[in-house]
Amino acid sequence: MTQKFKVLVTRKWPNPVEKKLKEAFDTTLNIDDVPLSEEQLTKAIDNCDALLPTVTDSISDKIISSKNRRAKIIGNFGVGFNNIDIDSAKKNGVIVTNTPEVLTDCTADIAMLLLLGIARRASEGEYHVRKKEWTGWRPTHMMGTKFTGKTLGLVGMGRIAQAVAHKAHFGFNMQIVFYDPYFNDKNIIEKFNAQSCSSLDDLLKISDFVSLHCPSTKETKGLINLEMLSKMKNSSYLINTARGDIVVEQDLADALNNGIIKGAGLDVYESEPSVNPKLLEFKNVFLLPHLGSASEETREAMGMRVFSNITAFFEGKEPADRVV
Ligand code: DGY
Repeated sequence: MTQKFKVLVTRKWPNPVEKKLKEAFDTTLNIDDVPLSEEQLTKAIDNCDALLPTVTDSISDKIISSKNRRAKIIGNFGVGFNNIDIDSAKKNGVIVTNTPEVLTDCTADIAMLLLLGIARRASEGEYHVRKKEWTGWRPTHMMGTKFTGKTLGLVGMGRIAQAVAHKAHFGFNMQIVFYDPYFNDKNIIEKFNAQSCSSLDDLLKISDFVSLHCPSTKETKGLINLEMLSKMKNSSYLINTARGDIVVEQDLADALNNGIIKGAGLDVYESEPSVNPKLLEFKNVFLLPHLGSASEETREAMGMRVFSNITAFFEGKEPADRVV
């Protein structure tokens, strides 16, 4: 009997994916779904051929540089891979893969949900009904902001931003503007009749809604601070489904407190699962617990994508979603 490759999954994954992994490999699962400590992750990387973490596991240089490391591939469950020390992976010759494409639509849907929800006060209204505070229809009750036909500013114009542009432009007749110094696909720009802004300042000044779609990198960490928020219209809203640390949460709370912007819809936070307590106090903030890719179909597809990546690697092929 040939020996199976050893793989270790750091959190609970959708059942069909766990089943497939178990059939193909000598798989260690985390049925209890308790996050692993740095020490446990180091032990894991020392004892498996593929480590399969997710976006909330911090895979540090200390873990990757472990002198007893056995794993040569890290198959991340997630499109973002800022949880992994990529420089260390490069230095140590460890391959890293992610799960792009399969979560594009669902993450874009959550961006739209936040946009629609915050503009039309959906979560506030729902609480109102549940708390039995609703006294009936009246002309000035819970008036929100119309979003159809308004200007949506996208920071970053990658796959998820394009999916948001599609839904917002064709579904809600929104004008699309974007800021992305690395993007210049004329066909896509034409398709959405979009306007490319030459600076972030320009985008912030003209947008009714600003939606973040850039990765968390050294350049984008803390990008949306008080100075930047102050450039937005005071009738505008900030939407973040990208990464929490792109926004300085304390500055966002100050901006909301001082009426610098009208509201925010957030799915991601600086130090998840903690949320700046000030943000919890605002009615004009719509908060979700990092649900971007959280549909059954998408989470299963993400797991299958990891499966394909490590299978290719073990067969001596190039994994399709190799980032390092
Ligand atoms: C990702 O894949 O990076 C998402 O944030 C997970 O929902």
